[in-house]
Amino acid sequence: MKKLLIKGNKELNGEVHIGGAKNAIVALIPASVLTKGKCVIHNVPDISDVRILLDIMKSLGSEVIYKNETLIIDNKNLHNELIKQEYASKLRASYYFMGSLLGLFNKAEISYPGGCIIGSRPIDIHLDSFKKMNVTIKEVDGHYLMKSKSRLKGTSLFFDFPSVGATINVMIAATLANGVTKIINAAREPEIVNVADFLNSMGAKIKGAGTGEIIIEGVEELHDGEVTVIPDRIEAGTYLIMGALLGRNFKVSGLVSEHLESLLFKFREAGVKYKIKGNSVYISRTRKLNAVNIKTTVYPGFPTDLGQPMSTFLTQCSGESIFEETIYENRLRHIPHLNAMGANINAFEKKAVVIGPSKLVGRKVKATDLRAGASLLVAGMVAEGTTEISNIEHILRGYENIVSKLNKVGADIRLIDED
Ligand code: EPU
Repeated sequence: MKKLLIKGNKELNGEVHIGGAKNAIVALIPASVLTKGKCVIHNVPDISDVRILLDIMKSLGSEVIYKNETLIIDNKNLHNELIKQEYASKLRASYYFMGSLLGLFNKAEISYPGGCIIGSRPIDIHLDSFKKMNVTIKEVDGHYLMKSKSRLKGTSLFFDFPSVGATINVMIAATLANGVTKIINAAREPEIVNVADFLNSMGAKIKGAGTGEIIIEGVEELHDGEVTVIPDRIEAGTYLIMGALLGRNFKVSGLVSEHLESLLFKFREAGVKYKIKGNSVYISRTRKLNAVNIKTTVYPGFPTDLGQPMSTFLTQCSGESIFEETIYENRLRHIPHLNAMGANINAFEKKAVVIGPSKLVGRKVKATDLRAGASLLVAGMVAEGTTEISNIEHILRGYENIVSKLNKVGADIRLIDED
């Protein structure tokens, strides 16, 4: 177990380059199971979730080579196996093997998925959709046993909520189904477009990804495929928040600014100074920030995954900001830690009132989940004195080389062993 020691209040100057999106690569790797051929994936971030998914691929017989941000997956020896609890429970995205194993073998056995504890996180939309595609589902000895007598059946589906995971899982399963599948009220996040592009590169027939209606015409088999992972908009947003609080002509490069419109809009409202040049944003510290209200919601709304880092930003704004989380029940567990560092936040279930600006001071705090960890890291960088963050394996699941990236631009962060 490691922890982070951060000496705060250091100016950020220089360039941070954004890696591939966690929430895209964690779907692209399981999606590759649909072909017995070879897949090449570029811009793959070196994060622990990727390593776990590659272990799962190897357990299914895939040969994988991961070097210089490029991943080559060769599935010629792929076979169907139970995805054991020791793998599945380590991350949420293990549930994408449901879609791909069902698609290729008409059968999947998967232990319960894990992921950050930020709410109850049911997967009923995934399971109901598979059932409508002729899959029977049983829960046996701590895992799902999912089977269809023949190829899955294409059908029309309406999602009560535009779930990212269910949209991707159904898109993957429907690619090799018999007939056409339509998803109405599909999620529209950029990661969904990235997965559809990958599947289409392998011969799938998917239209409408990125809109609320996706149509998947089933095909009999797929061939080799190739894709580049889109830049991680949440990683980019986290560094931009740091830049708005500590930057001096700080450059965040390799991002897609259109994917960050909601954050940039809120920055303008708060008075943050930034400039977009191609795939980079230059951003500098603004001394007097205005309070702004943040309500997280589905894309293109303000992303829930940036809500926690943004709540740290709000502690530095003058006046009262209202922060509301609408996707998860439990995404405010970092607030007591921010208050311990000097923030003035009153939290009520999914809503919080942030009164600022507050002078933050270094304390010993704990990352309760991935984005809570990011929020405390931002706070530690702004604070006077030294902040110690424990449970940082959460942060390392989603932010590639975060310590070296930040130290290179002027931060003072050390990764040390727990006592
Ligand atoms: N939901 C249901 N039933 C379902 C599916 C979802 O009720 O069948 C509810 C969930 O309980 C949750 C909400 O819908 O309250 C959002 O779930 P969604 O399926 O959209 O999200 P997810 O696929 O579980 C992915 C990301 C999350 C990110 C969300 C929303 C991955 C592996 N995870 O989760 O990422 O917050 O989309 O954008 O892609 C993170 O990176 O920190 C993270 C938690």
